[in-house]
Amino acid sequence: MALIAEHVPLRPKGREHVGICPFHDDHTPSLAVVTHKGNAFYKCHACGAAGDAFNFVMDYHKLTFPETLKFLADRAGVTLRPRRETARSGDQPAGDELRRANSLAAEFYRDFLTHDRGGESARAMLRDRGINEAAAEQFMIGAAPAQWESLAGHTRGITTETLVAAGLLKRRPAGNGQYDTFRHRLIFPICDELGRPIAFGGRCLDAADEPKYLNSPESPIFHKSRTLYGLHLAKRAIIEAKQVIVTEGYTDVVACHQAGVGNAVATLGTALTADHVKMLKRICEEVVLVFDGDEAGRRAADRALAIFFAEPVDVRICILPEGDDPADMLGRTGGLDCFRTMLDAAVDALEFKVARLRQDLRETRGHAGRQRCLERLLSELAGLGFDRLPGVRKRPVIAQLADLLEVRIDDIEQALPRRSGSLRSRVEVKEVPDQATSLWTEQADVPPARRIAEREILAVLIYQPALRHHPVGTDPLADASITSRLEPQQFMDPVLRRVAEAVWTWLVRDETFTVQQLMSALDDPRLRSLAGDLYLEAEQRLEAGGQSPAEFLRDRFDALDRLSKRELYRRDLAAYRRSRPNPVGGVAVIEQMLEQRRKQGYIPDALPMRIRP
Ligand code: CTP
Ligand code: MN
Repeated sequence: MALIAEHVPLRPKGREHVGICPFHDDHTPSLAVVTHKGNAFYKCHACGAAGDAFNFVMDYHKLTFPETLKFLADRAGVTLRPRRETARSGDQPAGDELRRANSLAAEFYRDFLTHDRGGESARAMLRDRGINEAAAEQFMIGAAPAQWESLAGHTRGITTETLVAAGLLKRRPAGNGQYDTFRHRLIFPICDELGRPIAFGGRCLDAADEPKYLNSPESPIFHKSRTLYGLHLAKRAIIEAKQVIVTEGYTDVVACHQAGVGNAVATLGTALTADHVKMLKRICEEVVLVFDGDEAGRRAADRALAIFFAEPVDVRICILPEGDDPADMLGRTGGLDCFRTMLDAAVDALEFKVARLRQDLRETRGHAGRQRCLERLLSELAGLGFDRLPGVRKRPVIAQLADLLEVRIDDIEQALPRRSGSLRSRVEVKEVPDQATSLWTEQADVPPARRIAEREILAVLIYQPALRHHPVGTDPLADASITSRLEPQQFMDPVLRRVAEAVWTWLVRDETFTVQQLMSALDDPRLRSLAGDLYLEAEQRLEAGGQSPAEFLRDRFDALDRLSKRELYRRDLAAYRRSRPNPVGGVAVIEQMLEQRRKQGYIPDALPMRIRP
């Protein structure tokens, strides 16, 4: 119980203790902790979450089994002895010693920042950046004195070897002692997922010093490619929002958390790696990559696409206006509004790619040049493994490419080379592509996440019409039937809407149907083939295991809800703008930025992210 009480406030009730359940959006205390029945356990009466201390830690922190074991052992002050002594070459300090060294250093730097007169320049830098004391404490921000041997003189029983191995001290040549690695710097401790310092990032306090940021070297407990700054503080919020915001810098994360954007983390001066994405995929569905508005950011955004192909998560890309970063933006009046709008306007990674092509095409003169643009894009996509993506993800991109080039969808599909192969056939680019307006091209107007949710709902209903009886609402007082929650007219994607209209003719009569019946009810051959695709997609997805069809369906409805909330937020913003025609810094600035980004081609003109009412 003590364990759960550390995570959830509990109060006694009879022989049990009750609290707000952390596993669902609880308003009444639904979580009961039972301790009088032999083995203690917890159970939520509302969402059904239940288990022992082990399950609680695993679920709450989304840890794997070995991680949970380690967590509970650390908490109980027990050292787990690995069954196999892990490969540790002779005199290398063990992980626990390195962690002790880092904890000592974190305390030392923190003390210097908060108590020492010498810490004034670091405090001034924090003030200057609008980082308040609460945030500085939460992130354990500290400062390193402007001397060669300050930490070196406060080793408190930690061996020199360990401090050197942790990268905190450096040896002078010829056995002349050691000196501090971090001097005259603002110190950002980098923590593991349990909040223990494992490395440091130090920003110079004197602009003349090089480098601007100095990081601890990699060590047995610190791997840059597997660490995200701020993850231990952001984890809960990430799980709740089902979304993570990945920024580029320490200051961005601190500023985000301070402004209430708790699901922000940062990479450590490197690009996001596949390992990072694997970690994040366990705790959320969507990754929003925020890049500073500079050339490096733009290149990084391009690279980010590779990750999207490697892992089944949605990746959206947000590039801030030239010269800006989240910390700067959040420091200005109206900055939070501005930042949230930017996040909402973040473009799906594939859309981003297509937007780049559109831009390239616009700028490239001559038929041959345009043909080259397309071929470059197609083989780039193929090189990343585009052909192995599920149809749900491929299709909208192919449709957009077809639009853009005014060719048939089939032509693009045929021309797409297999992984790293050469083009299988040529797609002839039209001389003058202009705005096409067919049913299929309207698709560009639907936010990609929305389209995916609509598509998946439709697919699972076609695959298992019996699910029409499955309740999908969360509000116990409202009618939770599918037909009362969603009508065909609400499908934003015009093509899916047509299929939904047919599907709903059975649903509203509470009748079942086969995919063949559905196909014969559709008059356009392309719609018929889409219906078939949807059926197969659902089959592939659901037979692969994981969620049950019913869970999957409810989950997709939740996704729709979340997406409509986003939509409402946009409308709120529009209302706000009407109520304040000349906001200081607020929406006017956002519009200006969006306009700038649109000019740069990062926001396709057709995406519905305009904030004009
Ligand atoms: N970085 C680094 N080495 C550098 C510069 C940057 O490792 N020489 C990494 C750091 O992790 C830093 C991130 O890149 O947090 C972002 O760098 P930058 O945008 O230049 O720093 P800011 O966080 O914006 O810091 P400041 O506002 O102090 O300039
Ligand atoms: Mn920055």
